[in-house]
Amino acid sequence: MQEKNIVLIGFMGTGKSAIGRAISRRLKALHIDTDHEVESYKGCKIPQIFATEGEEGFRSAERTVLNNLASRSNTAYKGSFKLVVSTGGGTPLKPDNAGVLKRIGDIVWLTASVDTIVKRVSRNIDQRPLLSGYRDNPAKRVEELLYERNSKYAALADYNVDTSDFTTPDDAAIYIISMLKLAEEK
Ligand code: S3P
Repeated sequence: MQEKNIVLIGFMGTGKSAIGRAISRRLKALHIDTDHEVESYKGCKIPQIFATEGEEGFRSAERTVLNNLASRSNTAYKGSFKLVVSTGGGTPLKPDNAGVLKRIGDIVWLTASVDTIVKRVSRNIDQRPLLSGYRDNPAKRVEELLYERNSKYAALADYNVDTSDFTTPDDAAIYIISMLKLAEEK
């Protein structure tokens, strides 16, 4: 299979982290989760970053992490190494970040129905600062954010995969890997 890097983008709860881990296991590639990178860089969890520095502080750390990653991925790619990058839901929304992601690799946009997203994010809504104030009606907030964001995800995506009906992240990983292989063979 191709030696390109794979970048997963999409809204919270669409499976970027779990599916990214599963793809990287199958391809024996390195998995990078930008949310985890931001947490390591800042030395604290995302809700704490939002609480102390606001969304702006988080976005600034995210940008730094992404730029560092881009230089690493460039080296890896030239050495025929593969990276699987799981981004945060808001990472691709800034045009600068979108450009960086595009240079890293093929962009796979994960989507899911609003019901599926709400079910998945409700498991740990406290860890999600953009939703945690909307416990009474998370679906409405999810719909609003999707309305603002979907055109940006779509503009950046090379592929789109709806993850609502996959039973496990590994099932989604198998599907995505074969989709990319088929595209490569064309
Ligand atoms: C965010 C999504 C989160 C995390 C942060 C902001 C967003 O990542 O980066 O809470 O703006 O949608 P996940 O999509 O991995 O949950």
